[in-house]
Amino acid sequence: MNANLYASLLAVCLATGALAAEPPNITRCQAGAADILGNQKAFAIQVCNLFGGTCFMNHPAIASANCATEALSIASGTCKLYPIFHYADNAVRSGSSAVKLLSTEGNLGCSVIKSGGTYGWNGACVSVQCHINSTSLVGPGKTGSLSGRAPRVTNTATATWTPMTMASISSLSKQLKTVFLYRTGNYVGIYRRSGYSSSGGISYTIGMLPTAFGNNYGPVACPSSGNSMTSLTASAITKENLRMCGSTSKWVYWNAVNLLRDDSLYASYSGNTGMGTRLNIGSVPFLYGMSKYKSGTAMDDRRQVFLHSTSHQSSAINMTSETIVPDKSGASSGQAVAGTWRNYGVVFYCDDYARTDLTVCGSVHQKMFYVADPNPNAVFGTTAAALQGGGATTIAPGGTTIPGNVPTTKGRGVASTAQGQAIGIAALAVALVVLKPQ
Ligand SMILES: *[C@@H]1O[C@H](CO)[C@@H](O)[C@H](O)[C@H]1NC(C)=O
Ligand SMILES: *[C@@H]1O[C@H](CO)[C@@H](O)[C@H](O)[C@H]1NC(C)=O
Ligand SMILES: *[C@@H]1O[C@H](CO)[C@@H](O)[C@H](O)[C@H]1NC(C)=O
Repeated sequence: MNANLYASLLAVCLATGALAAEPPNITRCQAGAADILGNQKAFAIQVCNLFGGTCFMNHPAIASANCATEALSIASGTCKLYPIFHYADNAVRSGSSAVKLLSTEGNLGCSVIKSGGTYGWNGACVSVQCHINSTSLVGPGKTGSLSGRAPRVTNTATATWTPMTMASISSLSKQLKTVFLYRTGNYVGIYRRSGYSSSGGISYTIGMLPTAFGNNYGPVACPSSGNSMTSLTASAITKENLRMCGSTSKWVYWNAVNLLRDDSLYASYSGNTGMGTRLNIGSVPFLYGMSKYKSGTAMDDRRQVFLHSTSHQSSAINMTSETIVPDKSGASSGQAVAGTWRNYGVVFYCDDYARTDLTVCGSVHQKMFYVADPNPNAVFGTTAAALQGGGATTIAPGGTTIPGNVPTTKGRGVASTAQGQAIGIAALAVALVVLKPQ
């Protein structure tokens, strides 16, 4: 944390009279390794850096002396796998009494364990710091003081910002298994506040990193939470399958992520091969992603994703992705239909990173980035071709109608409202936290 930022955060806190200390011993790394997963068996989430500078992500409780090996370094324009390391006692994560468990999708979502004055953070709580220039790094923050984010920021300099003590890799990220780092003003963009506490002069805020919404399918079921690393359950799943796991009914997901303009923007995608009309994804808020899904033989249909100019379905299309061709790599290998258990996404983003009006993006700065779920390694690129991991595809020739492609309604393709609501539970008062300089 640089001195200037610290001073400005302090000024904000003093101005509102809400001065409180953060929990002790939160480490924010400014260095890291290119890979912190290695050969280990852990559920992992892909972190895509579209911030415009190098970012570092680390568990808040690691010793600062271990940043070089335990923090993940992510160059701008790349994605890396961040392993969720889950422990029996989240407050004891190192040393001889630490008991590491097999992590799984149920361990997503930052949660906090407080015992006396000691705070424990689960494996989905992260410190994240990104370079705004060669010397200064900034952390996560959102506009507005309530749990939701105040949208349509036209001047980042005068907007009301709430810094986040740390970020959450939320359970919403289980579908695309990807979160995004994007710059909003002098903060790593946060979609909403997902946790907050203030007691005994100690306060913290937790902010949800941008991701794309949906349910999780994969070639093998995810294990339940709480299994030991030496259990039969742990030995029965390969480390690759753990990273691709999900409910095993067969779907392909198509995602649109809005890091472009601070407005809800309508997204659509190509209809099934031969259909000739587009299908709706929905209106996508800034710093968020939405998805739609297909089953049966429609899973292998090649498609484009479109971003419209406003939140309305009928508005003009402003950006059109390249064509993504589902394949039979990774999760899909050995399957009859290419694209089975795959999740594809187009991120519409603005590379005018230092812009102060987040509601506009000059046409030369409007960019697209392509991502797919870890398969089982990171999958991303600046072209649709980057998502094609090899393997035979069974694409019908263009113009041919493929029968049997109507999605069923009994699938779990629509995430529950209860889950969405659980994200932003406490709509409490303003929480301003002094970030410790280091
Ligand atoms: C913070 O870390 C220091 C050094 O590792 C340790 O001595 C101290 O007990 C920790 N404080 C808390 C409240 O965990
Ligand atoms: C980097 O950004 C900080 C914070 O805005 C600023 O104070 C500093 O002068 C900048 N440094 C360079 C080298 O541009
Ligand atoms: C979107 O496209 C329409 C039609 O081409 C154009 O008038 C409008 O300026 C575009 N909007 C943005 C934000 O690029």
